Amino acid sequence: MSIGTHEKLALRILSICIYNSDMTQSPGRATPTDKANPVAVEPLIAFSDVHIGLGEGDVLRGISFEVWPGETKILLGETGTGKTLIMKLGAGLLRADSGRVWVMGHELSDMSEQELLDFRRHVGFVFQEGALFDSITVAENVGFRLREEKLPDAQIENRVREVLRFVELESTYDMFPGDLSGGMRRRVSIARALADRPPIVFYDSPTAGLDPVTSQTIITLIMRGRDLQDVTSLIATHRVQDAFGLANYRFDKALDRVVHSNGSGPQAARQAGNARRTGPTNVLVLREGNIYFEGAAEDLLRTSDEYLRKFLASAE
Ligand SMILES: Nc1ncnc2c1ncn2[C@@H]1O[C@H](COP(=O)(O)OP(=O)(O)O)[C@@H](O)[C@H]1O
Ligand SMILES: [Mg+2]
Repeated sequence: MSIGTHEKLALRILSICIYNSDMTQSPGRATPTDKANPVAVEPLIAFSDVHIGLGEGDVLRGISFEVWPGETKILLGETGTGKTLIMKLGAGLLRADSGRVWVMGHELSDMSEQELLDFRRHVGFVFQEGALFDSITVAENVGFRLREEKLPDAQIENRVREVLRFVELESTYDMFPGDLSGGMRRRVSIARALADRPPIVFYDSPTAGLDPVTSQTIITLIMRGRDLQDVTSLIATHRVQDAFGLANYRFDKALDRVVHSNGSGPQAARQAGNARRTGPTNVLVLREGNIYFEGAAEDLLRTSDEYLRKFLASAE
């Protein structure tokens, strides 16, 4: 991509900057859509020719993709393909060696350390290992950012209870992370990431190390976030089942359960519209530092590519 194209994209994104440029106000739901025109016009995340090398050679060798408001983008790849690196670059926890990363209208490589610090408070991140603070309670973990924003105590408690109810763990409010199972800890991490309603949530391998049944619970939770709360997300996983679960199913509010998503109706139409041409849930497959496949899960399923077929067949 030429410099001219980079700059055009930057201008396009900045021209409808959907966040306060100083980012000092408390975060609300940021979305460039409006009620009269529900179709998003700009991506929330855009990577353009991103490279990073750690020691020997490039680990990421020119990564370019976009995540649109309302979209769920699944970053699928074997262990060591660079999924965590991409998540950390998007969340401003790591800087690229070259290329550009825009998130919510901000070009991250132009930001100072202080600006990055502010920026990180406005994205949700579920770390691969959960990363809860073991010495404080579940409620204190979930309300951590809300306290940093100095919200009134009663408001913090209400929101913490609400988001713990969402992950079906309100009963753990006064418990410590060490008292919980691995799956419950992961759900608390998700509650913490959602607590201040960030416009985008990064889920880094949310099912890693969990048994298949618990993994399914976590995927259903991410699905509920997407379908009931319109969370835009980037999800890293090595599990093919996670990608197809999210792509093929949706959480139906009226029925209060997971249903196959090939239906019609207003919800399906709205999701398809929000995420523009390609539908609400799309997959990127990483291989050797590049994006090897990008598209809908059903197209991945129909592939005749030998590497992809082997990868798909590796699903437990
Ligand atoms: N801090 C680091 N220093 C050196 N190499 C690293 C570092 N972080 C990651 N890597 C290497 O980069 C590659 C991609 O890592 P990662 O993004 O963690 O992969 P994934 O999340 O897909 O398993 C791996 O080969 C890993 O060894
Ligand atoms: Mg990882």
